[in-house]
Amino acid sequence: MSDLLRPRASLRTAVVWEVLKDALERRVKAAGRDALDVLDTGGGSGNFAVPVARLGHRVTVVDPSPNALFALERRAAEAGVADRISGVQGDAHGLFQVVERSGYDAVLCHGVLEYVDDPAEGLRNVADALRPAGTLSLLAAGLGGAVLARALAGHFTEARHALTDPSGRWGQGDPVPRRFTADQLIELVTATGLKVGAVHGVRVFADLVPGVLVDTEPGAMDALLKLEAAAAEQPAFHSVATQLHVLAERD
Ligand SMILES: C[S@@+](CC[C@H](N)C(=O)[O-])C[C@H]1O[C@@H](n2cnc3c(N)ncnc32)[C@H](O)[C@@H]1O
Repeated sequence: MSDLLRPRASLRTAVVWEVLKDALERRVKAAGRDALDVLDTGGGSGNFAVPVARLGHRVTVVDPSPNALFALERRAAEAGVADRISGVQGDAHGLFQVVERSGYDAVLCHGVLEYVDDPAEGLRNVADALRPAGTLSLLAAGLGGAVLARALAGHFTEARHALTDPSGRWGQGDPVPRRFTADQLIELVTATGLKVGAVHGVRVFADLVPGVLVDTEPGAMDALLKLEAAAAEQPAFHSVATQLHVLAERD
């Protein structure tokens, strides 16, 4: 079973996966080709790359971590898509040292902008990898979700720190270097010249709900997935989402 299809993992990824799958379907129709060229920048061990390849697309994963690329190779083989996935060591800043500029129908940048040295420059490269009319799928950590999670765990000072810190970090021990508001992500994407199509809030409730409620109540997982899908569409929930997803298009 692919990780995206495991019940617990699907709580974290369902919204993004559904939006991405629809966007790829639209691109297939518009391009008039069944198989798209997809680039996954910072794709790691293939959480999204493997399921995208299972849809029949050719996926190139660029990641600086040799360990992640090794795990990607193993997962791709296990999923029977090794012939459609290639892993390349590289990073968002030196992207065109390893992949072609304007060479991809869709580019994924999931959970990466938090870690790059310069988000504006990194995202500009990601956008420049797109062909005309290509689709960007951007996923990044949301500021509000972190503030809420720290506060609900009783870490009020850390919650206030994240709220006022320019990078949205809750303190020295915070493993995430940077978080974003929806407005900041929209501004970064717009500055690359891409047109923002949709913004979704991801994991609005999933990280806050005690696991026992979801695992033991019959039908609770399904109901929570439906609630997440409904809330993702509502701008009011962007400000409390753990992650934000932006779909954008190149002219
Ligand atoms: C949180 S993981 C996300 C992995 C995958 N995109 C996913 O959604 O499951 C962050 C990934 O970004 C990669 N990364 C870190 N710095 C990067 C950079 N400057 N350029 C590209 N990828 C980077 C890491 O090696 C890691 O695989």
